[in-house]
Amino acid sequence: MDPLEIHTARLHIRNLQPKDLNDFHSYRSNPEISKYQGFDVMDLSQAEKFIASQQNKMFGKPGQWIQYAIEEKTLGKLIGDCAIKLDESDKRIAEIGITISHHYQQQGFAKEAMLGLMDFLFAVKKIHRIKETVDVENSASIKLIESIGFRKEGHFIENIFFNEKWGSEFQYAMLKSEWRKK
Ligand SMILES: CC(C)(COP(=O)(O)OP(=O)(O)OC[C@H]1O[C@@H](n2cnc3c(N)ncnc32)[C@H](O)[C@@H]1OP(=O)(O)O)[C@@H](O)C(=O)NCCC(=O)NCCS
Repeated sequence: MDPLEIHTARLHIRNLQPKDLNDFHSYRSNPEISKYQGFDVMDLSQAEKFIASQQNKMFGKPGQWIQYAIEEKTLGKLIGDCAIKLDESDKRIAEIGITISHHYQQQGFAKEAMLGLMDFLFAVKKIHRIKETVDVENSASIKLIESIGFRKEGHFIENIFFNEKWGSEFQYAMLKSEWRKK
């Protein structure tokens, strides 16, 4: 198993490192960022522990979420993070998620990072299917994944108790065969 490294035109996707701490904490402490995510806001010490827990993880272990750094190359700075989990029972199926700091949103960074991830997963790692689950109220994320061409294949009604209330989610997916056609 190897550490993951992906380069796109503007971005370098790699393991989180201690040097990312302040940038990571600046958006992971923002309640607007965690509003639709399985993360609570983090204080500096929680952010530090989280980075330490991710920094040596190797791509390829089924059933394990790994959170990766998204670095903007000209700034040399962390602007967000993305996550991949290979399915516990079949590692040809992957699940992904992404977060871009509120300072850098709506500049095409999420889309560029997602396209880089998908190219890596489908073309290099021969993944068969990528899925993403999104809160039905998360309009930015829905716009992002639909603009990439993910197919909506599920609408789960009040399937998750989250932030003191029942929430509903859409599931989206894309197959390698669908990616090839794009
Ligand atoms: C969802 C998120 C990752 C989008 O990041 P981003 O870098 O701003 O997205 P991009 O600039 O790459 O935009 C991608 C597409 O989504 C659209 N979009 C992005 N944010 C939008 C918003 N707030 N409202 C409407 N459309 C939006 C863009 O217009 C673009 O569409 P296009 O390709 O048709 O032009 C970001 O809003 C975020 O981190 N949110 C908080 C974390 C989260 O909820 N993550 C998803 C759960 S896993």
